[in-house]
Amino acid sequence: MSKRIDVKNLDIYYSDFLAVKDVSVTIEPRSVTALIGPSGCGKSTFLRSLNRMHEVIPGAHVQGEVIIDGENLYGKGVDPVNVRRKVGMVFQKPNPFPTMSIRENVLAGVKLNNKRINKKDADELVETSLRGANLWNEVKDRLEKPGSGLSGGQQQRLCIARTIAVKPEVVLMDEPCSALDPISTLAVEDLIAELKENYTIVIVTHNMQQAARCSDRTGFFNIEGTGKPGQLVEFDDTQKIFNNPTQKATEDYISGRFG
Ligand SMILES: Nc1ncnc2c1ncn2[C@@H]1O[C@H](COP(=O)(O)OP(=O)(O)OP(=O)(O)O)[C@@H](O)[C@H]1O
Ligand SMILES: [Mg+2]
Repeated sequence: MSKRIDVKNLDIYYSDFLAVKDVSVTIEPRSVTALIGPSGCGKSTFLRSLNRMHEVIPGAHVQGEVIIDGENLYGKGVDPVNVRRKVGMVFQKPNPFPTMSIRENVLAGVKLNNKRINKKDADELVETSLRGANLWNEVKDRLEKPGSGLSGGQQQRLCIARTIAVKPEVVLMDEPCSALDPISTLAVEDLIAELKENYTIVIVTHNMQQAARCSDRTGFFNIEGTGKPGQLVEFDDTQKIFNNPTQKATEDYISGRFG
């Protein structure tokens, strides 16, 4: 299920504003890639361009290619809805549907895709997705209770269960732990480590320890000044980025000298 992502000369715009310039990078399957860099350098913008969520914003567009499994996501005739099914996304703030039960939340994405599913298959999918998200044991006795009644960390794992229930190939996460306490953060990190057996994962984080702990490769984005586009300055094995980066800007950032 897991897929490799090839980004080629990607420029990302908000109307006339070039927010991210000329990114070329290959993201390997069954790996975790962390994206780091100072605020406003375009990490979220880049992440959203990997499943065409960027275009939801009026005037937003890209130039260049994002190739997953041999297909350019931005090719003619490609349906963005299909892209978002293949490339799932988990947001910074857990966003379960508040009026829906835990069970309905897990199935929400599947139902949005107009998939018919019988009760038995739905039950199975709910269980495997919640198990996959390390949440099953905590919620199995209250599946009909509202998703909003869970703790923040549980809600984030519920959102991860909802994302993996549609069986995506890639999972994008934008600061998925920034609203969580340290224990829940570690639970989500454990989960990420398990998910990479099956998925290609790209995670944006401001937490250097988190990037170092849970990623195989790390990309450092930077910006030269306000109004300038963000750029991918360095992309390498996480060990290399944190121990012996090639670029001075990377070194300065990871050692906390700016940002
Ligand atoms: N909806 C939008 N419309 C116009 N410009 C935007 C929009 N969203 C982001 N930008 C601009 O694009 C640039 C990159 O923003 P982005 O949110 O991708 O940064 P980021 O690296 O994720 O920052 P942070 O670490 O604070 O989340 C910034 O200059 C930002 O102001
Ligand atoms: Mg962001």
